[in-house]
Amino acid sequence: MEATTSLLDADAVGDLVLLDPLTEESLLQTLRERFRRSDIYTYIGNVVISVNPYRSLPIYTPEKVQEYRNCNFFAVKPHIYAIADDAYRSLRDRDRDQCILITGESGAGKTEASKLVMSYVAAVCSKGEEVDRVKEQLLQSNPVLEAFGNAKTVRNDNSSRFGKYMDVEFDFKGEPLGGVISNYLLEKSRVVRHVKGERNFHIFYQLLAGGSAQLLQQLKLRQDCRHYGYLNRETSGLPGVDDAANFHTMQDAMRVIGFSPAEVTALLEVTAVVLKLGNVQLSSSYQASGMEASSITEPQELQEICELIGLDPGILERALCSRTVKARDETVLTTLSVPQGYYGRDALAKNIYSRLFDWLVNRINTSIQVKPGKQRKVMGVLDIYGFEIFQDNGFEQFIINYCNEKLQQIFILMTLKEEQEEYVREGIQWTPVEFFDNSIICNLIENSKCGILAMLDEECLRPGVVNEDTFLTKLNQLFATHKHYESRETQNARHVMDASLPLQCFRIHHYAGKVTYNVTGFIERNNDLLFRDLSQAMWAARHTLLRSLFPEGDPQKVSLKLPPTAGFQFKASVATLMKNLYSKNPNYIRCIKPNETKTAMVFTPELVLAQIRYLGLMENVRVRRAGYAFRQLYGPFLERYKMLSPRTWPRWAGSDREGAEVLLAELAFPPEELAFGHTKIFIRSPRTLFDLEGSRQARVVQLAVLIQKTFRGWRCRTQYQLMRKSQIIISAWFRGHVQKNKYKQMKRSALVIQAYARGWKVRRAYRRYFRSAASACLANFIYRRLVQKFLMGLRRNLPPLAVLDRTWPPAPYKFLAEANQELRSIFYRWKCKKYREQLTPQRRALLQAKLCASELFKDKKKLYSKSLQQPFQGEYLGLTQNPKYQKLHAVAKDKLVMADTVRKVNRASGKTVPRLLLLTTEHLVLADPKAAQPKTVLSLGDIRSVSVTRFSDGFLALHLKETSAVGSKGDFLLVSDHLIELVTRLHQTLLDTRAQALPLHIADQFSTRFQKGDVAVTVVESAKAGSDVPVCKKRGSHKMEVLVH
Ligand SMILES: Nc1ncnc2c1ncn2[C@@H]1O[C@H](COP(=O)(O)OP(=O)(O)OP(=O)(O)O)[C@@H](O)[C@H]1O
Ligand SMILES: [Mg+2]
Repeated sequence: MEATTSLLDADAVGDLVLLDPLTEESLLQTLRERFRRSDIYTYIGNVVISVNPYRSLPIYTPEKVQEYRNCNFFAVKPHIYAIADDAYRSLRDRDRDQCILITGESGAGKTEASKLVMSYVAAVCSKGEEVDRVKEQLLQSNPVLEAFGNAKTVRNDNSSRFGKYMDVEFDFKGEPLGGVISNYLLEKSRVVRHVKGERNFHIFYQLLAGGSAQLLQQLKLRQDCRHYGYLNRETSGLPGVDDAANFHTMQDAMRVIGFSPAEVTALLEVTAVVLKLGNVQLSSSYQASGMEASSITEPQELQEICELIGLDPGILERALCSRTVKARDETVLTTLSVPQGYYGRDALAKNIYSRLFDWLVNRINTSIQVKPGKQRKVMGVLDIYGFEIFQDNGFEQFIINYCNEKLQQIFILMTLKEEQEEYVREGIQWTPVEFFDNSIICNLIENSKCGILAMLDEECLRPGVVNEDTFLTKLNQLFATHKHYESRETQNARHVMDASLPLQCFRIHHYAGKVTYNVTGFIERNNDLLFRDLSQAMWAARHTLLRSLFPEGDPQKVSLKLPPTAGFQFKASVATLMKNLYSKNPNYIRCIKPNETKTAMVFTPELVLAQIRYLGLMENVRVRRAGYAFRQLYGPFLERYKMLSPRTWPRWAGSDREGAEVLLAELAFPPEELAFGHTKIFIRSPRTLFDLEGSRQARVVQLAVLIQKTFRGWRCRTQYQLMRKSQIIISAWFRGHVQKNKYKQMKRSALVIQAYARGWKVRRAYRRYFRSAASACLANFIYRRLVQKFLMGLRRNLPPLAVLDRTWPPAPYKFLAEANQELRSIFYRWKCKKYREQLTPQRRALLQAKLCASELFKDKKKLYSKSLQQPFQGEYLGLTQNPKYQKLHAVAKDKLVMADTVRKVNRASGKTVPRLLLLTTEHLVLADPKAAQPKTVLSLGDIRSVSVTRFSDGFLALHLKETSAVGSKGDFLLVSDHLIELVTRLHQTLLDTRAQALPLHIADQFSTRFQKGDVAVTVVESAKAGSDVPVCKKRGSHKMEVLVH
């Protein structure tokens, strides 16, 4: 809204097309009023007028950049950013190469404007490592070029002393790829001379102020500006400018661009050489021939220069003080006068510097150039010196003004003439607007046959006496009647008296005003000659950079052809520039300087008015107002605005023009606002266009919303359908799963029911049987349960495993008593078995013997119980140890069962005698204990039986068979201490060897057979009996009484 108001504010319209009434005064007044309000930018259509504020304004902030980004040109406050944005978008979106022409006089703000455009474009185009590097390189070319190409002048503290055209190249996305810089006509005379109050090029001051002591020493420079002739031997710091800081900025910039340290050093060395050349002093001397000659007064400076550039000082001295002239086939060395010498020196300094500047531009181009083959779009920014009208105007002003004239021509051609021609072409009603076509002036200067520049070249090349007078005379003849040319001579011819036009001058009526040029120096400047000796001397230097600046110094390439003149070169480069600009879509920034004193807020009307005039602003506005602010081919127009009518949206079937007509008819604009050309639609006022754009923007929002809405709907629908499909699949699976589970459950239940039903049926059918067997079954169960419990309990409480331990748990129930008893005996037997298994054979034999003894005697003979404690030793005699029994031992040998001492009862007396008894497996041997000689050897087979008493005595009767040889004496009566053992062993031996048991009688009476007949033995228990042995008493021949205890 603010912008619209600003555009339409009657006191200070933002677009001068809307000015009413349109007069020079109202235009001036508007600019003044806007300037007062700090609105330094004003439009004429899409041309931006910029009035230098000479103070910093808060309108270049990043926020402002955002505000103007993708803005509608007419929808925002006039700003240089708006035109930059318009150009950039047109380049990026419509693929149209752009050029931004910035014109205005010195100090009007062209360079600042070009920097603002560049920085805006850099800020809005995309970011990225590579893109940022390119942007940085492009932006950093400014401090370097400004250091070498700008200087303080009376008009501008940072005046560009060269013209600059920079093509910034972009790719199809609008990202910068690189660029190319072209420079035009550096004001090189400034290197050697500048008026008081101005300065030489910034670099000299920056180098001296900012160079480190080491650098200055290396360059053989002194820090003091007053030391240098080319700096007018005066200090001239600029208020608010820090040369030292700028030097460092410049060095940093060079680093960013890609200069190597060696290149920077070489560059500064050559700069130092230029500065030092100004201190080379010449003085006159006379040769022997009487000719005046010049010589170097202080060789020190020359010496240092030569050290810097690697050259023999003699060569440079000779080149500075003399000159080789070729006359026919001879070459003659002529000495130079002191002024000639100085001329040569200055020419050399100027040439070195201007060529160094060209090298610098080329070097920057090498860094920023775009690789070939990439498709690109170009935005050119032209910052070139403005129109100059000084008190004394020379060749350079002439050239500069010629360039401005050409630029004006472009402007006229493209904005005015082209505009009118277009109306005619399009068949639109048009009232021609008077405007000044300056092609006549351009022609006056550049016509290749009879233009001023052509004449100047002709004069320069012409043999014979050549000077500015002849040149002026020629011009006077040629342009005697030219409307835009005048000189004292043509004035005289026209009887005009004009004291303001001196003799040596001619005047041209430029579009911007009349300028009087003094022809003095025209030929020399145009020739721009440098003595060949000097260029050869430079080529001879070892300094690579300096040497490369003077290729013509190579003696191999000596050419007699004169180099192209400065005028010719400039014309050619301007022609190239114009061709370049014509191929692009122009955007104009016209800079105006509000005052001569560089002060803020001061607006000098006269000064501004002069600029309004020579910038042709009035004509510009008039054409804009008479014509149409906007035009466009029907096709793109319809494409852009077709959404504003339902009839043309989304597709129009008819022709583009019909479509545009239908569309605009629907929008109901006043008829005078529109004109329909053959191929284009014309819209008269920006307002209408603005409305159209506004409606479009609103409609675009609606359409965007529609698209968004449709898209969102589609997305949600698709999403929903997908979800629904998924849901159906999931629920189908789930239902299936549930049903399957349910079915399984039902099947299980059915089976259970079936089982129950079947069971029930079967149970009903078999109930009877169940009942009859039930008690038995129950009892059986209980019985088994009890048995199980009993057995488990038994297992837990098993008695110890000791054989003698006879304990056993009682049966818990009566019915288990038997089983318990059985188990007990099984357990006992098992225990015994275990016990037996671990017995040694000897022990086992002993126990068997004991067992046998028990079977024979237990409860039958009292002695038995006593024998229990006695172990059965068998061998009581010690046959083996005692040598006395050696013979007996031999008898017994291995078959010995028992050896003991017994008492033999005399059959006759009943007395007892000791005898040794040996029982072997075969025999029973009785031996005399003293002789240890067997007395009786009884075969075991002879033993019929054995009788013993019931008492605890050792008496026994060994009954022999009658058949026995030994038995002839009758049975033996023996008393043994180990009766039980003896009888037992005898019994066992008989069993083992003869498999017959020993017949044993245990009685109180028994009959024995003696030799003399049978004797009845009666055993009496009596106290008279000996304690150890029984007492046998013979009672008659057939009776024997045995008294035992
Ligand atoms: N937009 C601006 N805002 C603030 N100051 C500005 C602006 N434009 C220019 N200036 C001031 O004006 C001075 C001169 O501007 P600039 O160097 O751009 O002029 P110029 O037209 O390039 O002159 P020349 O033709 O001499 O190079 C700048 O140094 C700066 O101080
Ligand atoms: Mg400038």
